[in-house]
Order: sequence, then structure tokens, then C-alpha cells
Amino acid sequence: MIEKSFYGKTAGGEDVFLYRITNHPGSCVDLLTYGATVDRICVPDKNGDLADILIGFDDIEGHETRSNYQGQTVGRYANRIENGIFSIDGVEYKLTQNEKGKTCLHGGGELSHSVWKAIITDDNAVEMSYSSPDGAQGFPGNVDFRVIFTFSDRNELKIDYSAKTDKKTVINLTNHAYFNLDGEGSGDILGTELKIDADRFTPTDADSIPTGELKDVAGTAFDFREPKPIGRDIGADDEQLKMCKGYDHNFCLNEGDGPAVTAYSPLSGRAMDVYTDLVGVQLYTGNFLDGSRAGKGGKPIEKHAGFCLETQFYPNTPNTPSFPQCTVEAGGKFESTTMFKFYIRK
Ligand code: BGC
Repeated sequence: MIEKSFYGKTAGGEDVFLYRITNHPGSCVDLLTYGATVDRICVPDKNGDLADILIGFDDIEGHETRSNYQGQTVGRYANRIENGIFSIDGVEYKLTQNEKGKTCLHGGGELSHSVWKAIITDDNAVEMSYSSPDGAQGFPGNVDFRVIFTFSDRNELKIDYSAKTDKKTVINLTNHAYFNLDGEGSGDILGTELKIDADRFTPTDADSIPTGELKDVAGTAFDFREPKPIGRDIGADDEQLKMCKGYDHNFCLNEGDGPAVTAYSPLSGRAMDVYTDLVGVQLYTGNFLDGSRAGKGGKPIEKHAGFCLETQFYPNTPNTPSFPQCTVEAGGKFESTTMFKFYIRK
């Protein structure tokens, strides 16, 4: 069942709508047309009690002015492009440098901070669309973005992304949800166990740009091949962790049909499997959240209040020829699917 309601008006006067998908067992997902945002996910814990497991905001003003991309669809290029510059076929493109006046982060915030159109396509699916003009944030091509959110009776949130371009360009799309499997506002996520199916990760420089090396996780704090609590090694004497104040790194996913990541909180019993057809996932442990911004219920969003699993192409791909490329030809289409499956482990 889907209910549509008015959510609020942006500072620019645009109407924002909320779509709530409730499945037969009674779990629900709230979507906003602002930023094609996943605003709430309410799923049961081991006692059958529902709680919202996403960090975020209660009103449009929060999403517009206090957000660190909570729940938003980010692009055109999720993650970073070094110095906000890249080239295609010898033509150089200069992008918005929205991080430290230097890097282009999350496509300059365009998709995440725009109002999308939405239509209900099924009794459990909503399709959002947004057209970005040629040259937006410096990227080439008129691009039509489409994101379809489907929430099944098995508590699977499937996100199908597509983007059609009329010029050769780069596309990297993700969702920037911050999860707390014990319920938003219930403390930090350091006790949540993660298993990441990745033998390697991409170490970065001080600007969080990958050096190009694919580093073996074996013997490092980045080894999540067997489940371990996020907090176990987060304070390890490791240059990469110190630089980012925790995990804020891309993992190179192994090929296979199983989940790319499994998260589980022994406290609530909630578990989540992440499936994706993409090559990487950014584990970000909310290191730069510092309690200075109010979230849901007006409560400050503290450090490590949530963790993100941003499925993606590796960061700075357009400037790193050795990485799998995300170039889309003129007239071509980008397509990708990520699925989050929620369940209880007792
Ligand atoms: C980045 C972090 C950043 C966060 C919010 C993540 O994708 O890797 O460095 O703080 O997004 O902008």
C-alpha cells in the first residue's frame, strides 16, 4: 500500500511530497521527492517492535540546510573527483569544487538537493525522475535520471537506478542512508557487526582521493571478511583510519552472488544484507558528525550515530584509468541495482 502526503515547501517554494510504502507484514519505507530521499525505514527488532533505523530529519528545512546527504540519492558522480576536474576524449570538464574548495563531492550536491518528480508504479513501488541539463555542476550531457524504489513483503528495499545521456559522460549513483539498526537516536553504531565481501580496499590521500593502490585487507583494520563489530579496530594505529577519524573508505567488492555486505546488531537482533551489481562500497562511519546539527526529534546527530554503505564505482574513477570505468556513451544508458534486505537474527 502506498500513501502520498504533502511534506513541505523548499526555501525556493517547491512542493515536496512523501510516499509511504507499507508492506503486508506492516514494515514501511518513507520516500521524499526532495533528493529522492529514503527518509525512514521502519522494520521490527527481535521482539517484533518496529523502529525507524535511519538517521535524518523531521522536516524539509533539515534536509535542505542540515543534511550530510542523509538518505539522499547522490550524483551525478557519487563520492569524489580530484580537484573537480576530469577529461573525456581530450575535453576537460571543470566541476563544482564543493569540498575544501578543491574536490567535487557527490556531484556538487545536485541530485541530492533537487526536487524530483514521482509516480506510483505499483502497489509497492515509486519511480522518481529528474532531468539534469548539459553543464550542470560542470558535467557534460543532458541526463535523465530515474530511480525506482520497491519495498517487498520480505522487507527488501530494492533501488533501481538508470540514467540516459545525450553526450558521453560519467555517472556514479548511490544512496546515502545512515543506518542504525538499533533505531535512530539509540546511541552509536560501534557494536554493529559488519561482514564485507572484499579482499581489497582503496587507500586514500589526505583529501580522501584514492592513491590508485588496491590494498589487501588481510592483516589490517579493513579486514571485514569475517564479521566483526565496527568499533573493534576503528581506533587502530592506522594512518588511513586516523586521517578519516574512522572508516570512510571504498571496499573493492569480490565477485559473487552473495551479499556484498551483511550488518547485524546483537542488541536489537536486526540484520541487513546489501546486494549490488556495482564494484565498490563506501563504508562511512559518520566520523564527521559532531552533535552540532539537530536530527529527528530535534536530537543532535552525534559522531558514529549511523553508518553508510554507499554502493558505487570507486572514487575518482574518471582520473584513475586502472579502476573500472563509469563512462556512458552519447545515447547510452547507465543502469544499476542495489538491494537492502532487512531481517531478524535471534
Ligand atoms: C564521504 C564522507 C562525507 C560524507 C558526507 C561520504 O560519502 O565519504 O567523507 O563526510 O559522505 O558528506
